[in-house]
Amino acid sequence: MNVTRSTFNEVMVPNYQPADMVMVRGEGSRVWDQDGRDYVDFAGGIAVTLLGHCHPKLTAALAEQAGKLWHLSNVVTNEPALRLAQKLVEATFADRVFFCNSGAEANEAAFKLARRYGNSIDPAKHEIISFYNAFHGRTLFTVSVGGQAKYTQGFEPIPGGITHLPFNDIAALEAAVSARTCAIVLEPIQGEGGIMPSTPAFIAAARRLADQHKALLIFDEVQSGMGRSGHLYAYQHYGVVPDVLTSAKGLGGGFPIGAMLATAAAADVLAFGTHGSTYGGNPLACAVGEAVLDLVNEPGLLAGVSHRTQLIRDGLDSIGRRYGVFAPSRGLGLLIGAPMSEAWKGRAKDIVNAAMAHGVWTLVAGPDVLRLAPSLVISEADIAEGLRRLEAAMAGLVGVPNAAAA
Ligand SMILES: Cc1ncc(COP(=O)(O)O)c(C=O)c1O
Repeated sequence: MNVTRSTFNEVMVPNYQPADMVMVRGEGSRVWDQDGRDYVDFAGGIAVTLLGHCHPKLTAALAEQAGKLWHLSNVVTNEPALRLAQKLVEATFADRVFFCNSGAEANEAAFKLARRYGNSIDPAKHEIISFYNAFHGRTLFTVSVGGQAKYTQGFEPIPGGITHLPFNDIAALEAAVSARTCAIVLEPIQGEGGIMPSTPAFIAAARRLADQHKALLIFDEVQSGMGRSGHLYAYQHYGVVPDVLTSAKGLGGGFPIGAMLATAAAADVLAFGTHGSTYGGNPLACAVGEAVLDLVNEPGLLAGVSHRTQLIRDGLDSIGRRYGVFAPSRGLGLLIGAPMSEAWKGRAKDIVNAAMAHGVWTLVAGPDVLRLAPSLVISEADIAEGLRRLEAAMAGLVGVPNAAAA
């Protein structure tokens, strides 16, 4: 059967507008479309394929498990799930793990846990505090806790008991947290909201206030986790430990899996029968997740993130200066955002489209930020080629560079 991009409009729900090409193959940090054109992948499937495409150890782990056991349900447990949970517990603050299939599901579990925790103290303790521009997924509860009104519009009525505050505003947080608060939820680095790192003081204040008011501190590390920040999880960069942490995206390196990590005290409120998932913790996803975690924890991998970050940010900033399109980049590790310059406000998508046409795949983080989230093991040659193609795209869009700004 012959399928092309135009088939999409005929048979798919119109909630996405995919790019013009259909990708058919990937290897490392390159992907190829139906016409055999190659693209340097600076997007990583939106911060997911952190070991590139078809990493031999991940394909081997998947193939091996595919020949053994695919699915059981949670009526019985399985070895890959137990091993992955054990390794996550050993590598983090967590004592307990709940597996699911996506970031939204991991957050749904965390928010439900927060409500049960609050309820176990006092039914009035049900307020979840979160932040404008936060993104926590697309289920009704997670868009409601998220801080972007456009994702809840038209889906009302939405769940209540959620307070949104300005991000990185310690005074606003101090004024809002109370005995009614069951959880403070934040992304250590806001991803979809424009690659905005928390300030160290803000994240420390969130911990202090959560303790003071017996609320849980929940970190959504769906995007920032699994080595992307240069640490296994970004909380380790900040030195502030949450009660609950959600992980997905990179955890499966491209295979769908999500996880909620929690302290024993927090986890205990999700007693038998309170929450569940048919596929969560299935052997295929967990076998791949275990292989990903083993590779990310190999000596040298995390250390290599800072070198690659430097190369990409230097190149990106140089292009930004010379073409006047974006301001200096920001972020943590290989979660990189370049805010549009004044003249290019609102046009990040134009850059992504031009870059794609020149064979390099990038992302937006809102209308005003160009985002890069490449593989953590992208080669120096692919970094150089991706930047060369991005520069060619800028030259096509803007014209002659400003040599004086080089
Ligand atoms: C911080 C954060 N949380 C949650 C999600 C939702 O994850 P998923 O799309 O796997 O449901 C995302 C996805 O972009 C995210 O960036």
